Amino acid sequence: MEKSKNNNNQHSKKREFSTDENNGNQGKNGFKKSKKDLIGKAKSLLPQRKALPIFSAREKIIKEILNNKALIIVGETGSGKTTQIPQFLHHAGLSKNGIIACTQPRRVAAMSIARRVSEEFGTRLGDRVGYSIRFDDKTSPNTLIKYMTDGMLLRELLSDNMLKKYSVVILDEAHERTLRTDILFGMLKAIQKKRDDLKIIVMSATLDAEKFSEYFDDAKIMYIAGRQFPVKLYQTIQPQEDYLDSAIVTIFQIHTEQPNGDILTFLTGQEEIEAVEKLIIEHAKLLPVTAKKLIPCPIFASMPTDQQNKVFEPAPPDTRKVILATNIAETSITISGIKYVIDCGVAKVRGYNSKIGIESLTIQPISKASARQRMGRAGREAPGCCYRLYTEDAFEELADSTEPEIKRCNLASVILLLKASGVEDIFNFDYLDRPSKTSVARSLEQLYALGALNDDGTLSELGKKMAEFPIEPTYAKVIIQSENLGCTKEIISIVSMLSVDSIFYTPQDKREEAAEAKKKFVNFDGDHITLLNVLKGYQDVHGDKDWCYENFINIRNMKHVLDVRKQLIQFCERLKIDVTASCGHDHEVILKCLLSGFFQNTALRQLDGSYRAIVSGQIVYMHPTSVLFGRKPEAIMYNDLILTSKQYMRNASAIHPNWIAQTAPKYFGNRSLHTL
Ligand code: CDP
Ligand code: MG
Repeated sequence: MEKSKNNNNQHSKKREFSTDENNGNQGKNGFKKSKKDLIGKAKSLLPQRKALPIFSAREKIIKEILNNKALIIVGETGSGKTTQIPQFLHHAGLSKNGIIACTQPRRVAAMSIARRVSEEFGTRLGDRVGYSIRFDDKTSPNTLIKYMTDGMLLRELLSDNMLKKYSVVILDEAHERTLRTDILFGMLKAIQKKRDDLKIIVMSATLDAEKFSEYFDDAKIMYIAGRQFPVKLYQTIQPQEDYLDSAIVTIFQIHTEQPNGDILTFLTGQEEIEAVEKLIIEHAKLLPVTAKKLIPCPIFASMPTDQQNKVFEPAPPDTRKVILATNIAETSITISGIKYVIDCGVAKVRGYNSKIGIESLTIQPISKASARQRMGRAGREAPGCCYRLYTEDAFEELADSTEPEIKRCNLASVILLLKASGVEDIFNFDYLDRPSKTSVARSLEQLYALGALNDDGTLSELGKKMAEFPIEPTYAKVIIQSENLGCTKEIISIVSMLSVDSIFYTPQDKREEAAEAKKKFVNFDGDHITLLNVLKGYQDVHGDKDWCYENFINIRNMKHVLDVRKQLIQFCERLKIDVTASCGHDHEVILKCLLSGFFQNTALRQLDGSYRAIVSGQIVYMHPTSVLFGRKPEAIMYNDLILTSKQYMRNASAIHPNWIAQTAPKYFGNRSLHTL
């Protein structure tokens, strides 16, 4: 932490924000999990609920919903939209004719909100109130209110194309404009034309609701008055070289200098969050023994359920929580007790260059709208402070809002779902925002190359099977192909391992030991076989905690892997794919199978030793975490391309160059491969 001496990390107080204050009732009580009488618990939460801004609008909301087929509701984050509105609808009798669904872009939000609402309802989670997310369904025939990811509702259209189970569908967090919520807009509008009894509610945390209203034939917009305490804004005087370092310095500055109140730090992803978590624990050891304790609480999308609760529980006496979150904490979940927000100014976003057909994961500046939302999190219950780790000029340069995902994502997976739900004409679908023609064409081309579409553009038998899997079409293809090649056991394991960010962790002070430990798993065919070896090792010791510790394996992620693996096995069994089929140690079979989905993600070594991606012709580099880093196989297949200063191939294996065209003759038949 030498850098902490730099005075350029100091924040200058720039301005004060003050909006409509209110008679703050900041119920902090009653948020502890208890096994006590459920009804008693629900009763104890009632005063807190009644104090939410949305409560006074209750009768009006119910009236509007009963009188309208579609309604747009706009309200500040934390005003009670997500937790209360489905309950209002239930009390108004709307759950008598079907389930009330409320979609969320993020799985952790769906789970944590369902848990909270079932407490408020006074029933067990999964009974009257439940959730459904990929690989995890907590609902029962009793369920009246169902929180679910937008992806899950889209998937349900495959088996129930009129969504007959539902009386109301709430599209929540619509301002986020995720690809799947956007597609749901179109599907629901079409369904409503045939189903007069279906109610649609769109909820948003930002004011730009006109677009939603126009889309639903000028549906009524209701604005819920918010409650926001003043938030003091601090911005750095100079740009920060390393926002992680700067975040840690700021966390400790707040902890040692500022009064009580928890800290919410926005970071970009799990790896970063875990690195900061470890650093906080280390630095906290240097605090005087008399000092208040600092407890890091990570929260990110693939966080195991049992560990999510810590974030919501109040900090014990004489401690301060520092929540380390991705932008999940921006609008989708509300955490009590936050008084300080640290905003690194960036987020991880999925991108797609439709011209060259490359998908990438990049860390990019957030929008002004996001920065304001992040700041708002500090003033929900009392006045607070927001520390932006960037300058005022940098803020001014940010885009006003984030571009809808549909404009910047690979559309292959939703197109596959649309086709499987009976939508044939993808170009003329009723989009809220139309994706570019090139982007749709690229995605159709990719599906065709994977064998999911017939020559006339209709869904093939393979495509139908692929649509059954709740994973990207590339991975679905690989799993289905494994049946033909007799390597399903290995492929399911590898795909599960690839479902988490990272399996290995490397503490800064133990780099050598970690590298040494990793050696026993390394196979120079590449990362895929290496990952397989790790999973085998983990299973041999039955997930022993000490083994993970000694081998620098992230146990949190390994548990998630096993969960995903179990679910994938179930999906395979449903399609009668033999999950025990194994090719033993025949790596060539495994790699060829992976290539059947990832032939577009390949690169060839050039004369000068650099690598050029086959499809785009761009220069790509090996990611330093790959076991192939520093090695020079002739051809490489990879799962992801990470764009930082350069384009890095992550999760890569060495392949024979001839395999590429052999695996995808349809795709490469009339194309020249970029070589030199
Ligand atoms: O959807 P919106 O942002 O308008 O608010 P909400 O998610 O319905 O949250 C309303 C209130 O419920 C928050 O202010 C929290 O105090 C509380 N809540 C909670 O305590 N625990 C949760 N898991 C979710 C919400
Ligand atoms: Mg909400």
